[in-house]
Amino acid sequence: MAGLAASIFLPFHSKEPEQQKTSTIMLAPQKTLWSTPLSAVDHLQRWIDIQNGDKICDVGCGDGRILFEWAKRLSQEDDDGDNSNDKSPPKTVTFIGIDIDPIRIQSCQIELERLRQENQIHPNVTIVFVCDNALTSVDLFQGSTAIFLYLIPRGLKLLYPILQQSKPIKVVSYMSKLPEETVTDRAVVLVEHQPGAEWPLYFYDMR
Ligand SMILES: C[S@@+](CC[C@H](N)C(=O)[O-])C[C@H]1O[C@@H](n2cnc3c(N)ncnc32)[C@H](O)[C@@H]1O
Repeated sequence: MAGLAASIFLPFHSKEPEQQKTSTIMLAPQKTLWSTPLSAVDHLQRWIDIQNGDKICDVGCGDGRILFEWAKRLSQEDDDGDNSNDKSPPKTVTFIGIDIDPIRIQSCQIELERLRQENQIHPNVTIVFVCDNALTSVDLFQGSTAIFLYLIPRGLKLLYPILQQSKPIKVVSYMSKLPEETVTDRAVVLVEHQPGAEWPLYFYDMR
């Protein structure tokens, strides 16, 4: 984890700009940021019972909102998972956000700093953001307890073999299903700015 912490912000310098933009490495559109509604975290918390030492990763984290929301909620809980007055510290967990877009990762860093200054994130909760192509930085999320994804079906198809090699792992995908994997549970997420819209969230307990 020390190596990971040292690489908190790794600008994506190693490749030529044209190469960075090739569609073969894109797991989702980069130009416009499409984000998951925060209410999805209700289901993430229900499906993924976080334990001490867990590593949770958002592959293609965008502005990091899902990780921030989950980390803030976790920081309010004690280690029994409740938020009574008689508090013991929350579980020791690492959240990792990876995104190919350096501007998004930079904004994640700024928001993380703000939340830490406001004590909204407990010191037991580590959050790390890395700017890289997830397809070539597999070691960052292999070994994760759980992975959150909001990617296009083609991106999920590219990532699927890596997820299979990472079993046992819990995967939650917003909007699109993983190819060939049996869904363990499913929920719908309401979108505030789209009245009547309900978008799917798929949970996979891959063993
Ligand atoms: C639809 S957004 C989802 C953002 C966030 N996970 C959420 O749910 O709110 C997908 C993100 O994936 C990123 N992305 C696309 N291809 C990627 C790749 N090869 N490696 C890492 N991130 C990638 C994009 O830059 C974009 O920010």
